[in-house]
Amino acid sequence: MNPVSTQRLAPTREGITDAAALLQKGALVAFPTETVYGLGADATNGQAVASIFAAKNRPSFNPLIVHVPDLETAETLVEFPQTARDIAQAFWPGPLTLVLPVKPGAVSDLVTAGLPTLAIRLPAHPLAQELLRQANRPIAAPSANPSGAISPTTADHVIAGLDGQIAAILDGGPCAVGLESTILGFDPAPTLLRPGGLPQEALEAALGAPLLTRQPDTPNAPGQLASHYAPDATVRLNITETDGTLLGFGAMQSTLNLSPAGDLTEAAANLFAYLRQLDTGTDIIHVAPIPETGLGRAINDRLRRAAAPR
Ligand code: TXA
Ligand code: MG
Repeated sequence: MNPVSTQRLAPTREGITDAAALLQKGALVAFPTETVYGLGADATNGQAVASIFAAKNRPSFNPLIVHVPDLETAETLVEFPQTARDIAQAFWPGPLTLVLPVKPGAVSDLVTAGLPTLAIRLPAHPLAQELLRQANRPIAAPSANPSGAISPTTADHVIAGLDGQIAAILDGGPCAVGLESTILGFDPAPTLLRPGGLPQEALEAALGAPLLTRQPDTPNAPGQLASHYAPDATVRLNITETDGTLLGFGAMQSTLNLSPAGDLTEAAANLFAYLRQLDTGTDIIHVAPIPETGLGRAINDRLRRAAAPR
């Protein structure tokens, strides 16, 4: 890919208008969501979508999430069984992606990787919503990082990975949730495809039933590849004492602490930025135990992938 000069756009009316115009032209624009920064392209433009894979150096068999500004737009792209509509009404906008049967011709086949389903989400971030409204077309957006690397939760993270590969980044400051969206499928019953920013427990409470979970390592999601979200350093989990670099949780001595108060929401928001920060100074990052509940499940999922053999 020819290098381009990446424009940093301010979170102003003008910045959003410029970002929307670039997307309409088929250019790549990174933008903030409440989960992580996305690398956006017009989902109806095959060439624009192809350039996402090129910029990320991503294996092209991985399907992408499409972002829409409202449920009405989602209904034009996918079929909603009633359960899915109820869940969308309860949790959108928010950190939840639904995988649903795609309507013919709704988006480029590159977005779905030829699957009969489309992953779709309505982000809660006001800048994302305004950008999606102005772009006035479905926007495909994976996390805005080179394939396999840690997802970006600030504009600087995006620049560090993709400078010169994308037309622009809309700078919205740090992402509030800090973990990618939870992915839910409905074939045949509600199935957790990726733990994420919306806790499994919240979905189960709304459904009144436990979710099915997919066996790990079925080849569908990068979230399903063993090594993913990986820093350069080796990552060791469930460590409480070390002379080396320790990423802590709760009251303890550590190099950096995800949440000294033991708050999982705060820990999720800090996770990727702290992994990046520690990655610059050490060969081994030790990580304290994180409770396997609520957002802790998604945090542990990302940590296990960061620790997986490469
Ligand atoms: O929070 C998020 O979800 C962020 C922001 C930018 O929205 N996006 C994100 O996208 O995490 P990405 O591309 O890094 O992850 C998309 C996940 C992948 O694991 C992909 O395989 C899965 O969604 N996926 C996409 N389409 C699918 C489909 N039709 N069936 C099953 N999984 C699908
Ligand atoms: Mg990703």
